[in-house]
Amino acid sequence: MGDVRETRPAGASRKAGRPVVRVTRRLHFSAAHRLGRPDWTDTHNLETFGLCANPNWHGHNYEIDVTVEGRVREATGFVLDLKELRDLVEQRVIADLDHRNLNLDVPWLEGVNPTTENLVVAIWDRVADELPDPIRLVRLVLHETPRNSVEYDGRRLEVA
Ligand code: NI
Repeated sequence: MGDVRETRPAGASRKAGRPVVRVTRRLHFSAAHRLGRPDWTDTHNLETFGLCANPNWHGHNYEIDVTVEGRVREATGFVLDLKELRDLVEQRVIADLDHRNLNLDVPWLEGVNPTTENLVVAIWDRVADELPDPIRLVRLVLHETPRNSVEYDGRRLEVA
């Protein structure tokens, strides 16, 4: 039997199935907050949370990278329309957070100490179930400052 080689243009793989690609959209919001626990003294809160425990509030310019995963659709060559993703996150998250006080103004953050970690998990819960099937939320990166960020992929650990 001869060794038959096929030549194909780049990207025209003979592998079955559609490629799965991750797509990221970055969004922005500015918000005020104060970190702390109401059951701790101001001194203890300041020792633990530093400048972010300032009793008279302060703000951050947050950036959030929202990454979804899905198959590349044959018709469009897209996983999804990025405008759709932007609109969803703006409606579910940004509209509630931008230019607000995270401790006082946001019903879905009530009782939450608004650390970047707690925020990214709350944002996950606002977005993950709203994406059109079969697109999945796979990663959020929330930047509180240009130097500090947290990342979340939806995992939870059972703790006793
Ligand atoms: Ni802060």
